[in-house]
Amino acid sequence: MSASAPGPEREAKGWLIWQTIQRNRPANGYIRRPPFRLSCVLMPVEAPLTPADWTAYYRLRFEVLRQPWQQPAGSERAPDDDAPTTTHALWRAPSGAIAGVARLSPSGPQQGQVRYMAVAPAWQGHGVGQQLMHYLEDAARRQGFTEIVLHARETAVAFYQRLGYTVIEPSHTLFGVIPHFLMQKSL
Ligand SMILES: CC(C)(COP(=O)(O)OP(=O)(O)OC[C@H]1O[C@@H](n2cnc3c(N)ncnc32)[C@H](O)[C@@H]1OP(=O)(O)O)[C@@H](O)C(=O)NCCC(=O)NCCS
Repeated sequence: MSASAPGPEREAKGWLIWQTIQRNRPANGYIRRPPFRLSCVLMPVEAPLTPADWTAYYRLRFEVLRQPWQQPAGSERAPDDDAPTTTHALWRAPSGAIAGVARLSPSGPQQGQVRYMAVAPAWQGHGVGQQLMHYLEDAARRQGFTEIVLHARETAVAFYQRLGYTVIEPSHTLFGVIPHFLMQKSL
């Protein structure tokens, strides 16, 4: 179906755009900040498919989560990345560049864990992380998980709280300098 053809897909997209505009409309009626949020609505989260996708996917992980702490190349990979039970998600900017990544894997009976959430600095604060989490939460529900846990960097705790996650307890300190907190959300 072409992008402009009428039908449920087009109606759903229109509804999403309308919701986004309404969500960003303050009491005085002026629209506060829809333009960049619209990018996130129009560019849906997807799974990495091509070799180029996978290369960019891991590169972004490395650049956001490892390189700033002088970690070696390869440290951005996890042993279960290739497991069939691991769900990978990416968000592509309108330019085509991959600007957001995250993954979900099983971590207990009916429990999933989100790890390696990274949004390119230029796109942080534009709704990309939220879109990625919604995608992974939907995937978790489809897999029968009833809760998601994650270890949040201290600087990201408020982001996850905004999405309904609760701090359970302090957890590890990554690279000796990044405190983490175990967080949980029931689905
Ligand atoms: C943390 C991160 C994933 C959030 O993604 P993002 O795309 O920047 O976040 P979003 O724009 O989707 O934010 C969703 C909501 O959370 C809020 N939020 C995001 N980051 C926040 C923060 N650090 N503190 C407080 N609120 C935050 C936003 O304001 C937004 O709220 P709103 O809907 O009321 O406007 C991203 O900033 C990032 O990659 N940071 C560096 C790496 C990192 O810390 N990863 C997490 C490892 S656990």
